[in-house]
Amino acid sequence: MRIAVLSSEAVPYSKTGGLADVAGALPKALTRTGADAFLITPCYLQTKGEYLWHTAFDDLWLEWSGRPYRAKAFYSEANGSPTFLIDAPEFFHRDSIYGYREDYERFAFFNHAALTLLKRLDKKIDIVHLNDWHCGFAAVKLAHLRFWDPFWSNTRTVFSIHNLAYQGGFGSGELWDLGFGSRFEQDHFAFEGYASAMKAGLSASDMLSTVSPTYGVEIQQHENGYGLDWLLRARSGRLSGITNGVDYEVWNPETDPVLAANFSWKDLSGKRTCKRDLLERFSLPVELESPVFGIVSRLTSQKGIELIQQAAGEIVNVGGFLTVLGSGDRQYEDFFQRLRDAAPDRVGFFRGYNEELAHTIEAGADIFLMPSRFEPCGLNQMYSLRYGTVPIVRAVGGLHDTIHNFDRVTGQGNGYKFTDFIAGQFVEKIYEAVFAYNEPETWRRIQMNGMTEDHSWENAARKYLALYEHTLRL
Ligand code: ADP
Ligand code: GLC
Repeated sequence: MRIAVLSSEAVPYSKTGGLADVAGALPKALTRTGADAFLITPCYLQTKGEYLWHTAFDDLWLEWSGRPYRAKAFYSEANGSPTFLIDAPEFFHRDSIYGYREDYERFAFFNHAALTLLKRLDKKIDIVHLNDWHCGFAAVKLAHLRFWDPFWSNTRTVFSIHNLAYQGGFGSGELWDLGFGSRFEQDHFAFEGYASAMKAGLSASDMLSTVSPTYGVEIQQHENGYGLDWLLRARSGRLSGITNGVDYEVWNPETDPVLAANFSWKDLSGKRTCKRDLLERFSLPVELESPVFGIVSRLTSQKGIELIQQAAGEIVNVGGFLTVLGSGDRQYEDFFQRLRDAAPDRVGFFRGYNEELAHTIEAGADIFLMPSRFEPCGLNQMYSLRYGTVPIVRAVGGLHDTIHNFDRVTGQGNGYKFTDFIAGQFVEKIYEAVFAYNEPETWRRIQMNGMTEDHSWENAARKYLALYEHTLRL
């Protein structure tokens, strides 16, 4: 089976969040199962030159806004699977990956270039796997093309929702310029008086998936559907939830090259060295017996920062440290900065994006906090499990599916989770966790339960393959 995965970001070429981890790892995992899978993603200003192995095409001609446009494509296997990177500086050489008024146009272009490239490769594609609103354009194009271009007649599309909150909306008047002139195409985009690339993907794709079973249920409910729940309910027979995996080549405390010491479930002594290293990096007192709480996050309302604001006092009260890495909304950045300025011997904050520090926190912290408002899957809680860092999460989306309350009677469970978006419930779990932390045997048991779990991509890749096969039989 030949599968083309399209994504707006993918590790190691570009990354703003978990989508990049997934898009980087899934094609590699699919390749390992024997599928012929490859990735297509944009080449950004941020993409390191060392990853651009060679030029695959320097004359990728396509029509754009009524005139011919010459794009290029680089080739790489830096993520472990064949990758084509669309090079069009006018669209992708910017200070940041997203955040421009014309993002819809930039990604419509990416989709158009990706389909042009697939045709140039001249090998029939069975599945085009599209991710999030940035790829909604290709879903519509392929639904249209398959009726009159025999090259695409047997190609099917799978569209994965990583985050329904971002929908890629723009004025319907732009559709014509983007190459969607027919009524059939425009109807797929039509949403509440404007055009939505997310809606287009959900409407035009042959199969839908999302990144955890619980999120798959949540988005069909009015409160979590962002106005699209009706469409998801209507297409629920085509929607499934597959929990993301972890790339243990990147997130593994036994081999992680950035750690002060490596460790595994068999020997945790290195974790103590990592804890010392973490405290030192944040210029905090090296009190190795006190619990260290960690947060690595985009700082947006999705991540439940309000609950952290309300619980921060308790974290300090229980004698703990708080180490935070994140960037995003100004109000949250300012909050953490103020918190750190008020208690510089208890709180450490690094404002920004820093991969090495993300690993350092996963390894050095004792407890990882993810009280999300909603969480399609969440990867950090799974990274935490492998690094022996016990997660406290809110029971939503993928956090609900991957974290199970520790039960003192049975000794089962890998962390702590609470239900309502209420600080009191969160704080209760913080106290429960700290109580267990102070009982070394109990704590070790929780750590072991998490560290020995297998969340590798192999499992998820097999589920995707089954989904692709099912899609081809439709
Ligand atoms: P989301 O995709 O919603 O941001 P996930 O938990 O799925 O949430 O994935 C977040 C990914 O981004 C993880 O790999 C995490 O380590 C990384 N990350 C988030 N914020 C930062 C940051 N400030 N610096 C480095 N890595 C970060
Ligand atoms: C999105 C979601 C996150 C998920 C990631 C990868 O960014 O917010 O929960 O883990 O995509 O699927």
